[in-house]
Amino acid sequence: MTDPLVIFTPSGKRGRFAVGTPILSAARKLGVDLDSVCGGRGICSKCQIAPQFGEFPKHGVTSAQTALSDWNTVEERYKSIRGMLDGRRLGCQATVQGDVVIDVPPESQVHKQVVRKEVTARDIIMDPATRLLFVEVDEPDMHEPSGDFERLAAALEAQWETGPITAPLAVLKKLQPTLRKGNWQVTVALHQGHHDQVARVMDIWPGLYEAGLFGLAIDLGSTTIAAHLCDLTDGRVLGSAGVMNPQIRFGEDLMSRVSYVMMNPGGEEEMTRVVREALNRLVVELARDAEIDSAAIVEAVIVCNPVMHHLLLGIDPVELGQAPFALAISGALSLDSHELDLRAMNTSGRIYILPCIAGHVGADCAAVALSEEPGKQDDLTLIVDVGTNAELLLGNRTRVLACSSPTGPAFEGAQISNGQRAAPGAIERVEIDPVTREPRFRVIGCDLWSDDPAFAEATVATGITGICGSGIIEAIAEMRMAGLVDSKGLNGSAEQTGTARMIPEGRTHSYVLHDATATGGQMIAVTQGDIRAIQLAKSALYAGARLLMDEFGAERVDRVVLAGAFGAHISPKHAMVLGMIPDAPLDHVRSAGNAAGTGARIALLNRASRSEIEETVGRITKVETAIAPRFQEHFVNANALPHATDLFPELRKVVTLPDMLFNTSGDGPDGRRRRRRS
Ligand code: FES
Repeated sequence: MTDPLVIFTPSGKRGRFAVGTPILSAARKLGVDLDSVCGGRGICSKCQIAPQFGEFPKHGVTSAQTALSDWNTVEERYKSIRGMLDGRRLGCQATVQGDVVIDVPPESQVHKQVVRKEVTARDIIMDPATRLLFVEVDEPDMHEPSGDFERLAAALEAQWETGPITAPLAVLKKLQPTLRKGNWQVTVALHQGHHDQVARVMDIWPGLYEAGLFGLAIDLGSTTIAAHLCDLTDGRVLGSAGVMNPQIRFGEDLMSRVSYVMMNPGGEEEMTRVVREALNRLVVELARDAEIDSAAIVEAVIVCNPVMHHLLLGIDPVELGQAPFALAISGALSLDSHELDLRAMNTSGRIYILPCIAGHVGADCAAVALSEEPGKQDDLTLIVDVGTNAELLLGNRTRVLACSSPTGPAFEGAQISNGQRAAPGAIERVEIDPVTREPRFRVIGCDLWSDDPAFAEATVATGITGICGSGIIEAIAEMRMAGLVDSKGLNGSAEQTGTARMIPEGRTHSYVLHDATATGGQMIAVTQGDIRAIQLAKSALYAGARLLMDEFGAERVDRVVLAGAFGAHISPKHAMVLGMIPDAPLDHVRSAGNAAGTGARIALLNRASRSEIEETVGRITKVETAIAPRFQEHFVNANALPHATDLFPELRKVVTLPDMLFNTSGDGPDGRRRRRRS
């Protein structure tokens, strides 16, 4: 008689097994992804399966109710104490009795998929570097003397085929009491880095440890530090938190922080200390909010720009402030948490820092490349990570180029007269009626437009405090579309534009978006200086993109991806009206949200992705904007709105831009616009 057939879904793997074979053993033999922490001892419940009964013509079997052994006392005890869904069995307890179809639910799969919300994004396959293993260790024997660690290593090899292991002193110190407390049964957190020949025991608990393992994906930006706390078994994000980077007090932007170090020798040590302290506070806060022990956070992946990279590591960043912008190290780093003073996480915790691409293009850009995968696209894709220093990637399957461009902080609301960071009360959306030239706007913290009768009351708490980066972009683009600002970026006067909202300011004019001065409030206007600041920033961004296109030999791009928290809020149409980004069909411009943070999360949850990005970064061609002769030419041409020479045909299919120039010598005597001669 032939052995019964066992078919696993969703993998479709099948094989014949002798009657009495545990389903967990059958799964292991076939390479089916079925989890187990306790090694089949019936105590971890990770191996839960959902047997399917009935006729399965597709598989050519009938799966009878008698196809598995009877429900046993181990399962009954587990279900009564911990609960288990009806119809579920423990794979290590149920044995094969006849042909059977076994479904492995997602939560029982080790390499489960973490579905990303973004439609275009790939899912993450779970394969974390650290996992929990329950193990029974031989007791010491005077006749065969050996160390407790050696017997732990032998047990791990015998029960889990771990290969050779090592352990830091912190673990060795607690090894003996833990083994004895657990009555020679312990759970270890075993870390196997993608380059490690030898796995390392990161922590050890008596008996079966079930409180979980956690990791952090950290995006260490020059302005804010954002971290996601992730469950290392299922990839869930348990919490996210952000704090301001405390280094801001040493300089708003990166170069001013480098200058601070140049002027204050040893200043980098202070900056290193404050950023590490901020990270420790974030760890404590995230663990507290998620109600987990911060010592269960065993890994962190950090992405950051090159200056932050060096300041975090305690490396003097001065070389990054001057040509040839040499990094102390560009490769990926695997470190112990105590090397970075990250005391709040597990004392044996591991830190992985993605590789930097070049002296101006950091590990954050590498993380964007990991998340967005430009090198796997057929379409030529431009990815723009907008920040104080924009980082750009351009590529397709043939090759990928990268550069950075010094946009400055204008896009974040700095250098703007009523500018502010994105916070409640900041104007973030603007529309201007092209006929009446009257604006309406929305502020962060309120869903209503300002022309809604309930708006005033709804914004009492936040007030209307200023204009943030996305707000100023929309305001200027709307002004351009409404004929209030010309293609050279010059504001018209009240006479030229026909609206009293244009008020004189010295020899220039400002457009009043909001005026509450009559009630003791603020006036928020877009000044000529604001427009100049945005022109400089957007010209740098566009020139960087054009330089990459030159290098690629492309006249146009197929797709544009706006990355970064700011990118998530920019309207593609308005960005293109300003000429921030190259012309492309508007429905081919999308936001990728915090792609750098997502890249960090991928690297945290999937070991192979670390090798992948290290290899990818090695193949990315770096283009240095600072020394490129054509940068200046592109920069000057990009000063116009949207551009002096590039025609933006896709944009013009959907937007009409008034073609006029205001009198640059001031208001014309007749107050009329001067038409451009064509
Ligand atoms: Fe742990 Fe089955 S493998 S309960």
